[in-house]
Amino acid sequence: MTVFNSDANNNSQAQSLRYPVICIDGPSGAGKGTVAWRLAQALNYQLLDSGALYRIVGLKAFEAGLISTDAEKSIDETALLALTQSLQIAFEPNNASGRVDIIVNGEAVGEQVRNEIVGGYASQVAVYPKVRQALLNLQQDMAKRSGLVADGRDMGTVVFPDADVKIFLTASAKARAERRMTQLLDAGETADFEAILTTIKARDKRDENRQTAPSKPAKDALVLDSSTLDVKTVYDRVKQYCQEQGIFFNR
Ligand code: C5P
Repeated sequence: MTVFNSDANNNSQAQSLRYPVICIDGPSGAGKGTVAWRLAQALNYQLLDSGALYRIVGLKAFEAGLISTDAEKSIDETALLALTQSLQIAFEPNNASGRVDIIVNGEAVGEQVRNEIVGGYASQVAVYPKVRQALLNLQQDMAKRSGLVADGRDMGTVVFPDADVKIFLTASAKARAERRMTQLLDAGETADFEAILTTIKARDKRDENRQTAPSKPAKDALVLDSSTLDVKTVYDRVKQYCQEQGIFFNR
């Protein structure tokens, strides 16, 4: 992989050169976020948390009254597109949380955006092709500035079809619900396993069955099931696979 610097952009040879892109796709709770963060740190790449983009649109759409409590009810796509286009979204790495902070229209968005309710709003707005299209350039532009680790559902299939590495990290719904349950209990919150499992399955179903950019492994992706693996084992396997695909780690 050859890397160009920004002022090499004008010469025609440089048009075919680009920064490395590593895609980590898969359902929520499979461990993508942690693996993507660690990879980005080790490689000094940017991190694209594409789920955060859909979460922000979902949250803002809810606040604007566009989303009804009935998840199956359709949303006014024109209004949703206008809202999506009005948002200036940026990411800043936060070493303390091990995630990116999300900055919308110049202001940091609180942790509420990470909760399961907002995850549900995100998956409701994510079915709309115009919303996905509006977020496409923003995502692809991130790969023009430096190496990129992209975390999402359609990174390897739609956003970066020519990525250097594609991994689909999955886990059973039960294993993911158990992890979520542990996280909530550790945070001192109450948690109901059956309710968590039902929510996870509903979101998977919507993400996997939508018409546009459904969540699925790219044909050339490595599929890794983390159900019975700990974080270190998953990271080590992912790192090894990246190395096999020509990504150089100096730490
Ligand atoms: O990954 P995360 O749980 O933050 O994603 C929230 C929701 O955003 C997903 O359930 C999915 O509906 C949507 N999403 C998407 N495409 C992506 C990333 C997330 O449709 N690339």
